[in-house]
Formats: sequence, structure tokens, C-alpha cells
Amino acid sequence: MDKLKIKGGQPLTGEVRISGAKNAALPELCAALLSATPLVLHNRPQLNDVRTMETLLSQMGVKITHHDVGVTLDAATIDWPLAPYELVKTMRASILALGPLLARCGEARVSMPGGCAIGLRPVDQHIKGLQAMGAVIDLEHGYIAARAVKLKGTHFSFDVVSVTGTENLLMAATLADGVTVLDNAACEPEVVDLARCLTAMGAKIRGAGTSRIEIEGVTALHGVEHRIIPDRIESGTFLAAAAATRGEIVLRDADATILDSVLDLLRCTGAHIETTKDTITLRGGNDAAGKSKAFDLVTAPYPGFPTDMQAQMMALATCADGTSTLIETIFESRMMHVQELKRLGADIDVDGNTARVRGVSKLSGATVMATDLRASACLVIAGLMAEGETTIDRIYHLDRGYEKIEEKLSGLGASIQRVGGSAAAKG
Ligand code: EPZ
Repeated sequence: MDKLKIKGGQPLTGEVRISGAKNAALPELCAALLSATPLVLHNRPQLNDVRTMETLLSQMGVKITHHDVGVTLDAATIDWPLAPYELVKTMRASILALGPLLARCGEARVSMPGGCAIGLRPVDQHIKGLQAMGAVIDLEHGYIAARAVKLKGTHFSFDVVSVTGTENLLMAATLADGVTVLDNAACEPEVVDLARCLTAMGAKIRGAGTSRIEIEGVTALHGVEHRIIPDRIESGTFLAAAAATRGEIVLRDADATILDSVLDLLRCTGAHIETTKDTITLRGGNDAAGKSKAFDLVTAPYPGFPTDMQAQMMALATCADGTSTLIETIFESRMMHVQELKRLGADIDVDGNTARVRGVSKLSGATVMATDLRASACLVIAGLMAEGETTIDRIYHLDRGYEKIEEKLSGLGASIQRVGGSAAAKG
């Protein structure tokens, strides 16, 4: 099993290119199921989750070809509208195939995703919404068995803001009979990018990016070429790492307009940030003590502070000047990184969904274990900060959502190497 070995204490300096957004790529790959002519996605991130989704789609009958600028998905025929447990258990975003399969084929069998390290993560909103559109859904032998001769437009209000729930129903509604109104919909930039892709494919969508989205069903969608937006969480992760190591970096192919809450918080810690249309430059604060200022954060649905950046900011907080408070409101157990940070010398108390982090003078390297994707990123940042060597185990979590992270960090001057079984994740 691969590990990462990091020698900390180097400020990150230089330039790094931001990859396409994982959480936009995954629904947009599934959007290919809605069209009998090929969808081309540019700026495809080379991630394990993307490869898993492509495997799932090809097993359904989608013809997938990779080229230097992205991937072509040809869903002319869908032989097998099934998402098997073996794949779904490795990537819960497989649920995003449910809506498109129902809309295009009138049936779908998708394994129920299990829980995960950060929470129960039910999919009741996906099911309720599709039932409201006329789908008949049974839960049998661990599978969601769904069928619908023709989905019908409906007015559905989410009980809780759900990103993939919104995306699933948005895709299903594009081919439904009549108009669908989604209330309390997610406003994340990845939802907006999916809507942009669907609209280019011929869908009629209004209000994406707001909590009310209206979709007028059409009889068919067609293929198109679409460029995936930059990954705002990868961007935030590199910025937090640069701030935490008091470095100076430039993100290329980045989009500052979808990162306001993260940039605002980093500025509060003392970092200096400048942005252009497609770059973000951060210079770590250089106050006398060379420390970041402590801060408070509360995660919230977009445009609030993203839960996917909570763990990375906690790493920064461990050596800040003062006590920081981080409150996680989206997932019920997204604090698994706390115990690992304490192994590196952090001073953190957790009470329910609130973590209080008292800044210490330094972290010291140790062996730690990744538990989930963003917790892994947190430990990488902590390892870059720590004195001495840090070894991070189970980094397969990291490969799910960060493209070539050790190459990108080495390019910024970090002393980091992958050791263990396989070479770096490729292709
Ligand atoms: C998406 O997950 C992202 N994944 C997550 O990113 C992200 O953390 C999350 O949104 C929140 O922003 C993808 O887009 C592939 P939710 P999703 O449905 O859609 C509850 C990462 O690190 N809920 O918005 O699964 C749920 O339990 C990943 O890249 C229900 O109760 O999250 C949670 O408490 C991690 N019933 C809250 O809503 C449902 O049917 C938000 O979940 C659905 C969700």
C-alpha cells in the first residue's frame, strides 16, 4: 500500500497548474448517458474517482476514448443500466448514474452506497425526488431498483441541501415530460457547471446557482464539447499549504470567483492574495512571529465555507497565533483528522461538531494514517509544516481527488516522495 514521506519545514514557492474539478467531472461524465451522440469533456482530471466512474459507464455500454485534451463518451447504446456494488462501494458518487439512466432508459439498478468515514451519507433525497417525478423505486438486496416509463415534471423541495441530490434530479428532469422546479437546491459551482454542460447539450434550465432551479423537459439531448471548471478545493488546498509553510505560490488555470469564502478566510489569517482571471497568487503572512493568525470557521453550503476545506484549514490552525474554532455543520463525523494531527503534536479538543485548536510553536513529524480524502490533504499540509519526517499511510484516499499531488508539491519545492506498492497513479 502506497505511503507518502514528507520532510517538513520548506516554504512552498513557485507555480502550479490546477486540474479540472473532480466534483464537476463526476456528474458530467454521467450526463453522457443522457445523449445518443458523443459528449467530449476537456480538462479531465486524472483521478482514481474519474477512472472508476469511466469504468462504471463503460460497463453500461458507453464507449470511452481518451485523448490529450480530455475524454469522449459515446452512449449511443446503453446495454446494461446497472451500477454494481463492487464499483459503488469504492465511489459513492456512482449514485449520479441513477437519474440519467432512469431518464434515458426508463430503468436503473444502482447499488446503495454504504456509509463512509465522514458520515452516514444517506441518499433519501435522491430517491424521494425521483419518486416525485413518477419513478417506482424498490430497495432490494442492497440495490435501488428504479423504473419509469417516462419521468414527469414536478415541484420538489429538498429537505436538506444536497449537491449530488440536486445534480441527479437536474439531469433526470432534462428529459422529463413537462417542467420540474427544484427548491432548496444546492448552489455549488459544480452544479452550475453541470447545468452549463446540460444546456449546451440542449437542455432548458433556469436558475442554476440559486436555490430554485427550473427545468423544462425536452425529448432528447445531443453531444457537445464542454470544458470542466477548475477544481476549487484543489486550489484551496494548495493555498492553505502555502499559507501554512509561509511560502509564495501562483495557481495557474484557477478560478478565484468560486473561492471567495476560502480567500477571505486566508486573508484573515494574514496571507496576502492577488487574483487575475485565471491565476491566484498567495504570499504567506510575514508578521514578526511568522505565524498565521488564529481564525473561526463554520462550514456551510455554497457560498458558505466549503466542508471540503475544513480539514485543510485545521492543519493551518495547528500552528496559528492563538486559538481557532472550526465548526462542521454538513457531515456528522468529519473530524477523523484530529486524532492524526494530535500525533504530530497539535493541541485540539473536539466537542461534537466543534474543534478548538490552540496554536503550538511547531509540529513534529510522525507516522499518521489517512482516513478520507480531505483528511489526507490535511495530513499532507501538516507534514509540510512539521519538523522532521512525516509518513502518511493509506494514501489511496488522496489519489481519489488529487492529481499527481507529490509531483505538484515537489514542483513547489516540497521534499515529498511516494513509497510502497505501485508507482504514482497514472492516466
Ligand atoms: C458532495 O457530496 C461532494 N461530492 C462532497 O465532496 C462534498 O463534501 C458534499 O457534496 C458537500 O459539499 C461530490 O460532489 C461527488 P450532500 P454529496 O448530498 O452530494 C445529507 C469530496 O471531498 N444528505 O451535499 O454526497 C448528507 O448526509 C467530497 O470531494 C441527506 O441527508 O453531499 C450531508 O449531511 C466529500 N440525504 C448533507 O446532506 C440525501 O439524500 C450534504 O450532503 C443526501 C444528502
